[in-house]
Amino acid sequence: MTETFFISENEPRSKPAKRRVLFVDDDQEVLDGLKTTLLGMRAGWEMTFTATAKDALRKLDEREFDVIVTDLHMPDMNGFDLLTEVLRRHPGTVRIVLSATVREDLGIRSSNAAHQYLAKPCDAATLRTALNTASRIRELLLSPKLRSVISRITSLPSLPSVHAKLVESLANPEISSRELGEIIAQDVGMTAKVLQIANSAYFGLYRYIASPAEAAVYLGVDTIRALTMSAGVFSSFQHSGLPGVFIGQLQRHSMTTGMVAQAISVAEGLPKKTSDGSLVGGLLHDVGKLILAASWPKEYADVLAATSQEGVCSFDMEEQVFGATHADIGAYLLWLWGLPDAICNAVVFHHKPAECSDKAFTAAGAIHVADALERERSFSTDSGQRVELDMNYLTALGLADRVPEWRQICNRYAERAEA
Ligand SMILES: [Fe+2]
Ligand SMILES: [Fe+2]
Repeated sequence: MTETFFISENEPRSKPAKRRVLFVDDDQEVLDGLKTTLLGMRAGWEMTFTATAKDALRKLDEREFDVIVTDLHMPDMNGFDLLTEVLRRHPGTVRIVLSATVREDLGIRSSNAAHQYLAKPCDAATLRTALNTASRIRELLLSPKLRSVISRITSLPSLPSVHAKLVESLANPEISSRELGEIIAQDVGMTAKVLQIANSAYFGLYRYIASPAEAAVYLGVDTIRALTMSAGVFSSFQHSGLPGVFIGQLQRHSMTTGMVAQAISVAEGLPKKTSDGSLVGGLLHDVGKLILAASWPKEYADVLAATSQEGVCSFDMEEQVFGATHADIGAYLLWLWGLPDAICNAVVFHHKPAECSDKAFTAAGAIHVADALERERSFSTDSGQRVELDMNYLTALGLADRVPEWRQICNRYAERAEA
């Protein structure tokens, strides 16, 4: 079995007294405004302010910062160049742009320098949420090396057949963004990326776009073409070290889990927003596996082999080898990319729904059930791939007797996917 290569350098589990954030803006009034806006967060954050990009880089070299928030237009260096340098020198730092003019400046490639975009003027609640989230996700991954690798990820590889279908469709001048959205919705990596981009502040939206289909319509055919054609944004999965069926199985399982989770949410009368979130969260719930497979194909192939041959639990094996599970890793990236809490929480807790702070049955619960039932159906033998339904959790919610109906829903969708 492969060596454990992250755990040795893990940080201690105890949280430091304060996180550090660096604000960069050449407009002193903006810096003063931020100081006032964030006054109430001084207990949890050490805040540093500077007016130049060069000074920001100096400060980052002197001590570690958890987050950098930067303007785009500065006389000595623009914000994208600054963040590109931060990515190179300090990849583990969360990179946020705060600008009034992001949209006009943002090319698809330069967008990769930042994790998130906030529009100026930014209200206090949005800023606080961004900083609090950055602090919370840091607890998910204790290894600085793991954090820095994931923080560098700007896109995720796609199922080759879906990628080919997208490229082929783009050759058709009559293609609509809605049709492209339907293709994108069949792929975990492309879905995560279009949601990140569509919800960036440069599109000036004040509501959250929750589905890949809606995101595609919003982005339009030209932007999707740019994403597909610009190297490294939408790309086909190519790692040969993994079993040939791995990526196809993962995509099929993810799509079925999303549809089943949505159907279960509808059957339980949950609000539309929750059932929509169940669909997208279900599609993305195992995105951490895609990250592991794309970033460490050899090590992850060993994990998969041990899981199927020795019958050990893949969750435990991931923890042992990477120091984190695919649930933690996937949620970390989605949080970095600014996806909403409901989806990220569903991803973190999909194997352990009882640990979710939300005690009602929501998207996290529906995704847990859909994932477990879909796996139960696909892996009828007692292998490590199986995910147990958490019956204690369902009993506590008074939902244990709903399982037979949910199982029927799952069978219906799985049969449809296999047809
Ligand atoms: Fe999972
Ligand atoms: Fe799963």
